[in-house]
Amino acid sequence: MCTDDFCAPESHLWRAVLREWEHWADRYSYPLVMNPIFEATELFQRGVGGDTEVVTKQMYTFTDKGGRSVTLRPEGTAGVVRAFLNSGTSGAWKGAYSGPMFRYERPQAGRRRQFWQVGVEYLDVEGPAADAEVIELGYRYLSAVQVTGLELLLNSLGDELCRPGYVDLLRRYLEERRSRLCDDSVSLIEVNPLRVLDCKVCAPVLADAPAMKDHLCDPCATHYQQVKSALDGLGIAFREDARLVRGLDYYTRTAFEYIATDLTVAQNAVGGGGRYDGLAEAIGGRRTPGVGFALGIDRIILSSDLVPEPEVDVYLVSETTPADALVAASRLREKGLRVDFDTEGRSVKAQFKAASRSEARAVVVLRAGGALVDARVGEERGDVPLPELASWLMGRLG
Ligand code: HAM
Repeated sequence: MCTDDFCAPESHLWRAVLREWEHWADRYSYPLVMNPIFEATELFQRGVGGDTEVVTKQMYTFTDKGGRSVTLRPEGTAGVVRAFLNSGTSGAWKGAYSGPMFRYERPQAGRRRQFWQVGVEYLDVEGPAADAEVIELGYRYLSAVQVTGLELLLNSLGDELCRPGYVDLLRRYLEERRSRLCDDSVSLIEVNPLRVLDCKVCAPVLADAPAMKDHLCDPCATHYQQVKSALDGLGIAFREDARLVRGLDYYTRTAFEYIATDLTVAQNAVGGGGRYDGLAEAIGGRRTPGVGFALGIDRIILSSDLVPEPEVDVYLVSETTPADALVAASRLREKGLRVDFDTEGRSVKAQFKAASRSEARAVVVLRAGGALVDARVGEERGDVPLPELASWLMGRLG
């Protein structure tokens, strides 16, 4: 099925990266939003765009027992906007999500059919500060999880007023060079010429292609300028990329991608996003401007230098019975310590082996009949009375 399992120790890094995500979403005041994993197919056709590769080639779509066409979500934005519209609220609204997405792509390193995204959507907001806040959040989070060679690419895709004129211009440019374009690009000239800008094969032909940012209407140009100034003010470096068009159709104005330049897989985008002022209307709701991003955790894992903290604070080695250890563990757990022990009554030697495998920060030996236990944190060792064990450990483990 081309899906993967992740167990410890590999999953330690997943856990660390997902925990860190919760901290950063909190800091920017994005509460959790939870959406269904499958939705009516029409939501993605109308929201993401009927001509996009995601919709035409990559969706897991099936008919349910009630005869409805449903699709495993290939991305999170359309579902979050639908949820916001259904809620009937208005005014600035934030949501952060984390979960699996599904795209029928050719699996390879960093590209999977079931992959994990975290993301935010900031809805009913128009000002450039919203774009900058969203971009900053993604950037700070990716820096915190130590994505190596992190780079931010930025572009503006204009809006429904200025983009059509630019698209005509681009189409003419491409028509004139038709014979030098690859077959895929030729097939896109009519339906979606912007996507040709993405083609790596045709890059040499596209070197002088007209750039959207030079054809923005005044309001879009001002918005773009203000987003860039805000990022400068935040000290976030970015590179303008006139060929950045994104693969989903809903974007207007700001578009951005986070790239891990050191990542040697076919696609090194660890995340992307932008503004989508027309999406809510496209799915049948009222006009609701919004901006957001999604980050691909699978690729973050591949490009992160983060060394996850040990997951166990204390391993209890019992010279008595597992029942004694169970009670001692329970007391320490009540105090908030992360504790593990052997429930099977194996030899002390086997328990020490397990303690070392667990990479626990402290090892405690529960002695037969003894009120004192032998507690070790790194090099430090102490004969500690059992009732004082929790505070002895907490004083040292912090
Ligand atoms: P996207 O660029 O399609 O945007 O996906 C965001 C990120 O998800 C990518 O940069 C990549 O890291 C990861 N990703 C996508 N497909 C795969 C895959 N098959 N395997 C592994 N990772 C993958 C969106 O999904 C938009 N909804 C982002 C957004 C939110 N725009 C506005 N708000």
